[in-house]
Amino acid sequence: MITITNLTKSFKNFKAVNNLNMEINNGEILGLAGLNGAGKSTTIRATAGIIFPTSGSIMVDNLDIVKDKANASKHIGWVPELPNFEPDAKPIPLLKYYAGLYGIKPDDAEKDIVELMKKFDIYPYKNRKLRYYSQGMKKRFSLIAAMVGNPDNFLFDETLNGLDPQGVREVRDLIIELRKQGKSILLSSHILSELQNVADRIAIMKNGAIIKIITREELRSLGATGIKVHVKNPNGKIIDILSSFGEAGSDGYYYIIKNKAGADPSELNEELVRANYKVDYISMDNETLEDYFLNMVK
Ligand SMILES: Nc1ncnc2c1ncn2[C@@H]1O[C@H](COP(=O)(O)OP(=O)(O)O)[C@@H](O)[C@H]1O
Ligand SMILES: [Mg+2]
Repeated sequence: MITITNLTKSFKNFKAVNNLNMEINNGEILGLAGLNGAGKSTTIRATAGIIFPTSGSIMVDNLDIVKDKANASKHIGWVPELPNFEPDAKPIPLLKYYAGLYGIKPDDAEKDIVELMKKFDIYPYKNRKLRYYSQGMKKRFSLIAAMVGNPDNFLFDETLNGLDPQGVREVRDLIIELRKQGKSILLSSHILSELQNVADRIAIMKNGAIIKIITREELRSLGATGIKVHVKNPNGKIIDILSSFGEAGSDGYYYIIKNKAGADPSELNEELVRANYKVDYISMDNETLEDYFLNMVK
């Protein structure tokens, strides 16, 4: 579990993260969405203990990442946005070194390392220096490096970004498997829809602050196509008709019906007219998740 309280990180006078509060529970995938420059990586790097907060605190499994860094670090696996490894290292010795940082004896670590390398299909390249690894192989290596100490908390910085569809599926499956094991997972992305199918909640960040947290239930209805209707003579009974076309609500002026695939505005129009409603506006409401996101963060 990760608890971030009033985190501020300034670079000179610029607040890259501004009084941020966030909690990532055990067995939860928290998506962190925001445009480039919103402060996602800064939040993640501070949580990984790589940079120090200007103020505020970050607790990892109740250990303070600043005051008790050596212990807290053992509880975190971090996949940086741009992983950078010693190019002349070979994978197994380097992974053994990382295992050592988690307090695991190198020889004890070897079995797990080999298993992870097999699982992520890079075991055949065990004798190759990392400088000769392809981008995809480096990405897999960086995932293994984060998992080697079997920590209970993971920070994935734009890890789905730039992967081919198969890679996206593999990483998504991995993250979901980690959630099943009860791990706390923070996954950032500048593309909201990338997080939609995997995150339990999504925190939207703008100018260093969280401007909204979207729950799983809200996510389902967001970005779904819906029908927007206005009638001149509404009454209490109209909701019954609207509800048979999906989840009906109102924004104060329009009725909005969401969440039913294939709901047809012309059929709804017919039914409303048959029930003597005067329909003066009806149309498909096509806001996509990405439109919603961009409207919110612009
Ligand atoms: N070391 C640094 N020195 C100065 N400014 C930085 C530094 N790191 C990040 N920033 C600035 O902080 C802001 C947030 O950056 P970042 O956390 O990388 O955003 P994101 O990951 O959401 O794209 C950006 O304006 C960036 O330029
Ligand atoms: Mg970033």
